[in-house]
Amino acid sequence: MPGLLLGDVFPNFHAETTDGSIQFHDFLGDSWCVLFSHPGDFTPVCTTELGRAARLCAEFTKRGVKMVALSVDSLEDHHDWSKDILAYCSMESEQSSLPYPVIADQKRELALALGMMDPDEKDKHGMPLTARCVFIIGPDKKLKLSLLYPASTGRNFDEILRVVDSLQLTATKRVATPADWQPGDSVMVPPSLSEAEASALFPAGVFTKEVPSKRKYLRYTPQP
Ligand code: BEZ
Repeated sequence: MPGLLLGDVFPNFHAETTDGSIQFHDFLGDSWCVLFSHPGDFTPVCTTELGRAARLCAEFTKRGVKMVALSVDSLEDHHDWSKDILAYCSMESEQSSLPYPVIADQKRELALALGMMDPDEKDKHGMPLTARCVFIIGPDKKLKLSLLYPASTGRNFDEILRVVDSLQLTATKRVATPADWQPGDSVMVPPSLSEAEASALFPAGVFTKEVPSKRKYLRYTPQP
């Protein structure tokens, strides 16, 4: 089972969420989207993740990115758990519900279809739980990035925001972002561009780092 590959059109699934029913492509509209799954409601690591996602939601919105979570419990559980999450991240006085919808996938149908199941994690009834998947989907409805973490390792939502910045930049500019890049840092000129093309495309200048091989592939330019 290859699962979803980068560039695949994301399935146009139907789901029940804490904000009502969604048909995924209609929900996306022209936006980017971060879809993230969780092993289960009322679990400690998931609570910290959903709290961090709630705190960062305005930053994602600023970038035209919709967020949507998925957990294999009922809508009723999701609504009850949301109150704990808002209290955990001290947002209960600001809002009465999470700033993004949470999909209820009690039958695990969506989690199975999207390859999100964790083979090792079971709930108290012995039912399999979802892993911590992240899918970033572009406005063209194609998969741009996927991450898969085991249940025991919470994700870094600042990193997810950072990769959104990189994905949005590289979607429109012929650049790549180096390790640990942050918005505003210099970016890298991809090997597919000749020196002449790079000079024409990046009037701010192209700076090449010398290396023992003498090959000129470590080329930087200020972020366009
Ligand atoms: C958690 O969110 O804390 C968690 C959920 C399932 C397995 C392990 C940890």
